[in-house]
Amino acid sequence: MPKSTKPAETETADGNNIEMATLTRPRTGESWKLPVTKGTVGPDTVDIRTLFRDSGMFTYDPGLTSTASCQSAITFIDGQQGILRYRGYPIEQLAEQSDYMDVCYLLLYGELPNKDERAEFIDTITHHTLLHDQLSTFYKGFMRNAHPMAIMVGVVGALSAFYHDSTDISDPEQRSLAAHRLIAKMPTIAAYAFKYSLGLPFPIPRNQDSYPENLVRMMFSKPTDDYTMNPVIARAIDRFLILHADHEQNASTSTVRLAGSSGANPFACVASGIASLWGPAHGGANEAVLNMLDEIGSKDQIPKYLNKARDKSDPFRLMGFGHRVYKNFDPRATIMRQSTHEVLNELGIDDPRMELAMELERIALEDDYFIEKKLYPNVDYYSGIILTTIGLPSNMFTAMFAIGRTVGWVSHWKEMLTDEDQRIGRPRQLYIGEVERQYVALEKRVHSSEKKGWARLWGKS
Ligand code: ACO
Repeated sequence: MPKSTKPAETETADGNNIEMATLTRPRTGESWKLPVTKGTVGPDTVDIRTLFRDSGMFTYDPGLTSTASCQSAITFIDGQQGILRYRGYPIEQLAEQSDYMDVCYLLLYGELPNKDERAEFIDTITHHTLLHDQLSTFYKGFMRNAHPMAIMVGVVGALSAFYHDSTDISDPEQRSLAAHRLIAKMPTIAAYAFKYSLGLPFPIPRNQDSYPENLVRMMFSKPTDDYTMNPVIARAIDRFLILHADHEQNASTSTVRLAGSSGANPFACVASGIASLWGPAHGGANEAVLNMLDEIGSKDQIPKYLNKARDKSDPFRLMGFGHRVYKNFDPRATIMRQSTHEVLNELGIDDPRMELAMELERIALEDDYFIEKKLYPNVDYYSGIILTTIGLPSNMFTAMFAIGRTVGWVSHWKEMLTDEDQRIGRPRQLYIGEVERQYVALEKRVHSSEKKGWARLWGKS
């Protein structure tokens, strides 16, 4: 539940102290005063809610690069300084000293749990890991070679058809139950998707395992063999989940908030987040990094691919590089790189892709283009190497990301529903289409373009 982050208004009890920004339109001589609102840390915002009413103008901000779409007390990022904090705690401390269950509790409830709270929370999550048996038949409707993210979008959306007692969003108990179910069931859903692609039986979660152990065991064990847990791998996965747990208003979280703003049920909202995460510019980048490393193949090819990345006419981008917010370094990438080394050392694997990735990183960081555009490795750059090392195929990488991010999605969804300022999300637009025209009868229609029909309309050649 967010505390109000509007100190500028609180400070204005006497009505005289509101800091105002002024927007002036010299052509007409008009100007509008807009209140400046302050968070606890980070940039101030100009509150433009009255702008359209008073001026008849919208603001234009494709990609929302300068727009705070909500107030939030969950995660803070300073991209220039490479800072990421969950509920005020630096990500480095959480990755080092905490575990994913602590982080889930922290994100959901605002504080680290004490011993009793932690035990109760873990018990709750542990007892929601099973999937309704009917859901296993649902999987059989998918092709065996379906992408796991396609399955996850479908299955998570379908949870609303199975768990009717947690879809009333006006009931805090039901909201909480839905949040717990989503966090608990996501590893099972992803593991089922993986096993289904292999034609192996669906795994059963084990209550004596910790959250990451349960995830690792479900992914890799077979009912025919004993499975010995490697604590280094379980720890690496736990850290992976911590690093992916939340990242404030990224594309998928904003998607969840936008879907939730209409009153949609939590399972549908999280399914929309998974769909957004799948894109290669977002969570799909970890899969794309591995594909890119395979394509580059060897160190001597690096200059060729850097040239391609610099070339505007070439669609190739250095995957795992660049970030909308981080313009210095992504603190998660630093931790992930360390974790990757730990896993490779533990398993005694000398992965040539790791060497290639490090060399590519070294060269790119000294390259004028990447320096000038402030492009640094992001969290996805190394995460794929960890996941491939422990035995996951690249199409499972984004599903692993989705497991970790689920707590972030549900925390934001829950926060949004209890925010008094919350309204249905409904952006405006700068319309650049035709002005009013008169209907043309079919026999009189001619097109000047050489392209015909739908190809012309969709800009295809
Ligand atoms: N390789 C080459 N050039 C790049 C890259 C890249 N990876 N990323 C950005 N650029 C260039 C752009 O071409 C652009 O150049 P220009 O100024 O000449 O037009 C400039 O850097 C700014 O890039 P934008 O795409 O405008 O920045 P934006 O903030 O919109 O995009 C994004 C950020 C999507 C992450 C981008 O850097 C990218 O596509 N990276 C590769 C994909 C990736 O790793 N995504 C994972 C992000 S982290 C996550 O979601 C967990």
